[in-house]
Amino acid sequence: MLRHFLGTGLLFSGYINPAFSRTFGTVTAAATKMSLDQAKKIAAFKAVDEYVRDNTVVGVGSGSTVVYAVQRLAERVKTEGLKLVCIPTSFQARQLIIEGGLVLGDLEQHPRIHCAIDGADEVDADMVLIKGGGGCLLQEKIVASCADQLVVIADYTKNSKKLGEQYKKGIPIEVVPMAYVPIRNRVAAKYGGKLNLRMAVAKAGPVVTDNGNFILDWHFPEGGDFDWDAVNRDIMMIPGVVETGLFVKMASKAYFGLADGSVTERSA
Ligand code: 5RP
Repeated sequence: MLRHFLGTGLLFSGYINPAFSRTFGTVTAAATKMSLDQAKKIAAFKAVDEYVRDNTVVGVGSGSTVVYAVQRLAERVKTEGLKLVCIPTSFQARQLIIEGGLVLGDLEQHPRIHCAIDGADEVDADMVLIKGGGGCLLQEKIVASCADQLVVIADYTKNSKKLGEQYKKGIPIEVVPMAYVPIRNRVAAKYGGKLNLRMAVAKAGPVVTDNGNFILDWHFPEGGDFDWDAVNRDIMMIPGVVETGLFVKMASKAYFGLADGSVTERSA
């Protein structure tokens, strides 16, 4: 029966009857996930349709929203015969490109990317992003820096006025393993907050990135009025810091899929 309700798509509209919600709590959670997935998908499809042109090089980001972007890229290549070269931002992105039957490229052959499409953990009113929830921030920032345009695709939970408003997992900082303690101490001493070494889930010990590094998640003090550009530059100067998940003045466009099936846009 539950499968029947989900199968009909009745819960996709974003409206969930409260009585239904009380009766079927677990179904509500499933419905929310479905509506989030739907929101990611419509944002990703719109970005690919509006930004990707024939004979171009496309940067492919990482995360769950990008899965839909690759799905749409593959569809368009098949139906429209687009000629695209795709540059991955992670091991995951590389796998998605290969599984989607797309042409895999690299920065050695294609140092200029026309458009990079990537997810984000949070986007503030000034288009500053937190990225790296999936641990791929270094290659994501390299690819974005080579792109004429960085287009963000996200569901409505990523759209904030200020960083930290919705995303509570902190700003990721990729660090060389031997330096994680001094970096942790220096950032906390200068800016406050707490830095946690990100731990793996299905492995003992810390997360090790695609580049062999560790990640510190910086839970910066709430309510602080940070100049993120300055903070980013400052943290980058600490020896052993490889990259931060602060993407400042990089994104030109963001698409947020909403629960009602529409997409809202923000431009830099
Ligand atoms: C990975 C990222 C992702 O783009 C970010 O975490 C958003 O992921 P998702 O699309 O799964 O919400 O920065 O390093």
